[in-house]
Order: sequence, then C-alpha cells, then structure tokens
Amino acid sequence: MKKTIEEHAARFSEVAPEYDESQDSEEYRACVSLVVHYADPSPDDVVLDLGTGTGAIALALAPDAKHVVGRDISEGMLEQARTKAAEVGIENVDFDIGRFREPNVPADREIDVVVSNFAMHHLSDDEKREAIQVIADLEPRRFVLGDVMFFGEPDPDEPFYTPEVDDPSTVGFLADALTDAGFVLTAVESVHEQVGVLVAERAPLGGEETQ
Ligand SMILES: C[S@@+](CC[C@H](N)C(=O)[O-])C[C@H]1O[C@@H](n2cnc3c(N)ncnc32)[C@H](O)[C@@H]1O
Repeated sequence: MKKTIEEHAARFSEVAPEYDESQDSEEYRACVSLVVHYADPSPDDVVLDLGTGTGAIALALAPDAKHVVGRDISEGMLEQARTKAAEVGIENVDFDIGRFREPNVPADREIDVVVSNFAMHHLSDDEKREAIQVIADLEPRRFVLGDVMFFGEPDPDEPFYTPEVDDPSTVGFLADALTDAGFVLTAVESVHEQVGVLVAERAPLGGEETQ
C-alpha cells in the first residue's frame, strides 16, 4: 500500500461529496454494471461490498438481496452512502467501517456473495493476497472483483490509476491469488486494457466422491 489506511481514508472523505459526480468514465460505469450483473444475489443472500464508497454497488444490489453489508475505511464516503440509502428508502443495508483484511462482519453473519469495485487496487500484491484469503475464509459462494488491473503492460499515462497512490496488479497475479485461496475463475471481463471484472466461485468444500 503506497499510502496508509488513514491517508486513503482522509483522501476519500475529502472528495466524498463530489465523488458520484466525478465517476463519469465509460469504463467505471461498465465495471459497475458488470459487477452488479455477475453478483446476481438471490432474495435469501447476504452480500458484502468491500470498499463500498458511496454505495454504488451496495445500493444497486440491495433490492435483490436479503441484506447488504457495506464496508469502507472512509467515514465521509460511508456518510454519503447512508444518506443515499435513506433518500431512496433502502433499509436492508448497513454501512460501517471495515477494511479488506478486517471487514468487520459480525461472527454470526453468513456471507453468500462478496463484491468489490474499484477499491482493491489500493493494496499491495501481498496485501491483496491476504485480503483474498480473508474473503475466502468468509466462505461466500462467489466473489466478484471489478477493478483497475493490467491485462497488458502497465501504462502510468492512462487515466485509470495514479502511481503515487494506486497499486494495481496484473490479471495473472489476481487469478493466481484467487485460485490459491480456493476459488475457481468462471468469468474474466476486460473492460479496458487496465480495467476488468473477475468472477470467482468457491470450489465445493470437502467434495463428494464422483464416479
Ligand atoms: C474509487 S472508490 C470506489 C467506491 C465504490 N466501490 C464504487 O464503485 O464507486 C474506492 C473506495 O475504497 C476505499 N478503500 C481504500 N482502501 C480500502 C481498504 N483497505 N479497505 C476498505 N476500503 C478501502 C476508499 O475509502 C474508497 O471509498
């Protein structure tokens, strides 16, 4: 991580009131819609949205899910998310402080689907590995990750990341980390050479013997 958690949180809290208006890129919108499409929760599912920000994904999924748990390190972003939920009368979401490697999910809360959009690229490769293991330990059946990720060579002149604050990984690295944590990749969507969506499903635990 190129900045501390506190620095990232302060940076996002500062821009929180204007964050939604500033997300006008075609690629961001494509990622949001792909993450929502692949998350595809059932009415009985609890969804965890990590790096939820102002709740773009959490609020889009809430009408289809039993409950959505939104977690972020920035109180300013969370405040915007809570205000938006209240404005549209969505009550089956809770927005609270939590981070990738300590998501602050109550022990008795089973998580069925984990999503994250445009947030994990703030972590270093080692931290992403840890975070993916923490997510796997929650035993969701699906993890949908939309983010800045390199399908080709990193290009710092492209607008999708700022080398001073962001730390995107290659798609190969993310695929390895996900499979090492017990996931199977079921879809890889390239939105741009540096933006994509990965869909990971849990390999069945234990596994029944097959003929
Ligand atoms: C670019 S915003 C994306 C917000 C939202 N997911 C969306 O699609 O609009 C990135 C968010 O990640 C959060 N974030 C950064 N590092 C984090 C961490 N370690 N754990 C949880 N959230 C983090 C930031 O506070 C910020 O709200």
